[in-house]
Amino acid sequence: MCGIVGYIGNRKTEEILLDGLKELEYRGYDSAGIALLDNEKIDVFKALGKLKNLKEKVNTYHDYNIGIGHTRWATHGKPTELNAHPHLGEYSYVVHNGIIENYKEIKESLQEQGHKFVSQTDTEVIVHLFESFNNESNDAKEAFQRTIEKLEGAFSILLISKCDPSKIFFFKHGSPLIVARGNEEGEVLFASSDAPLIGLANDVVYLEDGVGGVASATSIEFFSDNYSWSTLPTSKQYAQKDGFRFFMEKEIYEQHDVVTDAMLGRLGENEITFDEFDASIIEGIEEIKICACGTSYHAGLTASYLFERLSQTRCSVEIASEFRYKEPLLSDKTLFIVISQSGETADTLEALKMATKAGLKSIALCNVDNSSMTRVANHTVLTRAGIEKGVASTKAFSTQTVVLWMMALYFGQYKQVLSNEKINDELHALREVPKSLIVDDKIHEKTKRLSKRYLHGHGFFFIGRDVFFPLALEGALKLKEISYLHAEGYPAGEMKHGPIALADPELFTIALMPQNLLYDKIKSNVEELSARDSTICSISPLDFELSDDFIKTQKTNHYMLEFFEMLVALQLLSMEISVRLGNDVDMPRNLAKSVTVE
Ligand code: AGP
Ligand code: GLU
Repeated sequence: MCGIVGYIGNRKTEEILLDGLKELEYRGYDSAGIALLDNEKIDVFKALGKLKNLKEKVNTYHDYNIGIGHTRWATHGKPTELNAHPHLGEYSYVVHNGIIENYKEIKESLQEQGHKFVSQTDTEVIVHLFESFNNESNDAKEAFQRTIEKLEGAFSILLISKCDPSKIFFFKHGSPLIVARGNEEGEVLFASSDAPLIGLANDVVYLEDGVGGVASATSIEFFSDNYSWSTLPTSKQYAQKDGFRFFMEKEIYEQHDVVTDAMLGRLGENEITFDEFDASIIEGIEEIKICACGTSYHAGLTASYLFERLSQTRCSVEIASEFRYKEPLLSDKTLFIVISQSGETADTLEALKMATKAGLKSIALCNVDNSSMTRVANHTVLTRAGIEKGVASTKAFSTQTVVLWMMALYFGQYKQVLSNEKINDELHALREVPKSLIVDDKIHEKTKRLSKRYLHGHGFFFIGRDVFFPLALEGALKLKEISYLHAEGYPAGEMKHGPIALADPELFTIALMPQNLLYDKIKSNVEELSARDSTICSISPLDFELSDDFIKTQKTNHYMLEFFEMLVALQLLSMEISVRLGNDVDMPRNLAKSVTVE
């Protein structure tokens, strides 16, 4: 993960770097650091934890003209100040996003040559390797290229050598990196995503894997010619809390608005249309394969029920990190869909590359335009959720799910496998989705009250059937990531095959009991748990006498509307438990918003 920034130019280098890092902080907040240089002076500042700790430390009145910065999500070595980037050797400075997989061998051989390492990171080998090659040839460019050749894994790198502090060497492999010409004369900027660059630069190169170079105030030299310049959007979208306590809360409350955007121009009076791809793409397709991670995987799992039901196309869903190494059998009769809020998740991106390389047609369902996946897939469908700042994904999930539901219907229409009545029912239900996502004050109040009760115990089971099983998984993930309490999502009918052994009053069961889908079946499953004394909190429009606690949702006539209403209740419940525990709701421990390492 992590975010990296770099700057060459005459504006206040530290301000540009710190502002840029602020935009990238969602990518990691274990530590942050910057190195500032010019011909006379070098300063390195590092601080543990969030960026504000670094900002407090940066006190300098010197006019530097080059610098690099980093916000870290630790992969190798604990989050300590010593392990914070930039890493320094005798005379060079590096920031790195990714993992150097062969760092141990490199480190051992460098140690034998007398190099002294001070951190536990994989990154530090880069500076020592560079210096050892540079000492041999006294040619920084050659030394940098030889360094890159030795590295295995994923790495986006910015490197400055004190011997020539007017240049930044750069390279991208695996993790994202953008090079930009600044708006002022003699300016070059680097960043992991385009947000830090907007307003400062117009012309950018989204680097491809394997592309690197060296930049100075007067030139940007690329080591190969597989790069192209493109134009950045000029205005920056800012996310504000708008009076809410947390970004997560605001993002829960705005779901009804953003799904309206997600449906705009796609949900018609009598049919679904997508401008981004034609439904005929399904022609000759025998299977849809969805690949994603985390919450996006849960949206995919939900969609698998909808694709089979509405478009009568076989659908399988895979966790991207599993898919990559299972030696999957890929057929060009498979339509490959990746789902990702960020469009940068390393495993999902690699899975997409594998599929396109094997000749599969692909669609990327992403929230962030211009992200890596949008550049690899044959077609991109944007979820239009707007910036999602909370690490715990909320509106990304609801928009993904609604767009996937529309896609399933789009294919169903095209394949003529649905009656007109069925299509109309689905379209009608889709129109009601925004309403079902409006936060009901009573439910929010209820989750605040319930949060007191559900702080202790030995664990949570979120259970549901059909699409309410992925929803249960999502509810459990939300709770885990921001409350740090143990929770599992489980198919309700599966509890009796093992997990029910855990049932006692300290086991909290959150039961998703929709009126419109398998109500009697889930009811029996919950009764089985209640008979074994598990504490039951049911979420349902129907009263259930065995519930210890109850969140009452609206009666509707479509299970997906119940799905969205329950989603909001689950999001609020996990948020309120997290608040009650005094946790950082928006930036929970050990996590980062964008997972660009595998
Ligand atoms: C969700 O709350 C998580 N923070 C996480 O599981 C996330 O959904 C996952 O990392 C995938 O991210 P993406 O959608 O950006 O690919
Ligand atoms: N592997 C490096 C580290 O642990 C970089 C991690 C990152 O991308 O943040 O410091």
